[in-house]
Amino acid sequence: MSPQISPSILSADFARLAEEAEAVRGADWLHVDVMDNHFVPNLTLGLPVVESLRKSTDIPIDCHLMIEDPDRWAPQYAEAGAGSVTFHVEAAAAPVRLAREIRSLGARASMALKPATPVEPYEDLLPELDMLLIMTVEPGFGGQSFLDIMLPKIRRTRQLIDRHGLQLWLQLDGGISAETIERCADAGADVFVAGSAVYGADDPAEAVRRLRELAAT
Ligand code: DX5
Ligand code: ZN
Repeated sequence: MSPQISPSILSADFARLAEEAEAVRGADWLHVDVMDNHFVPNLTLGLPVVESLRKSTDIPIDCHLMIEDPDRWAPQYAEAGAGSVTFHVEAAAAPVRLAREIRSLGARASMALKPATPVEPYEDLLPELDMLLIMTVEPGFGGQSFLDIMLPKIRRTRQLIDRHGLQLWLQLDGGISAETIERCADAGADVFVAGSAVYGADDPAEAVRRLRELAAT
């Protein structure tokens, strides 16, 4: 699959979200980070904002839930119109049931792993998912440095996906920039979240194009 870029609005101006979505026209997804101050030590936004964003942009919403009890809340984000809903496996009580429920509501089901969570115990779950997110920083904040020590895990995950002949996408989130994206693509990732590297640029839409180009080479 050709690489996809999902700009994270965590680094955008929260008072101007509709315009900030417009500023990344041409991006494949709009990455929306939902944080609850419990699963991560930060608080962002919730369902009403996702619902409003859905109405004010054509870019499909890639919702990353960094919250406790996703079994209860994640389906509501699918109902709110998110095209993709990612829950953290560390917080989910019944990840298979949850992935099936998200899919049944018409969204892509995605599961995230924090940096210290290995992929191998979840090998049998992969066919239930449309995307796997490997965090390349500790979740909670934008602007952190990419964790190079995640590269072997990314490579192993790509091998697992290919060995099982699965179609699921491999997403990375955290510290993705023009400096890091090539080695990430090389390791086998195909969907890239970028917050500060996109919204910190003078021309965010151009930053998206540049990242996509670098990932494709
Ligand atoms: C962090 C969030 C990321 C964040 C990435 O927990 O999940 O989506 O916005 O920001 P950058 O790209 O600046 O590392
Ligand atoms: Zn995120």
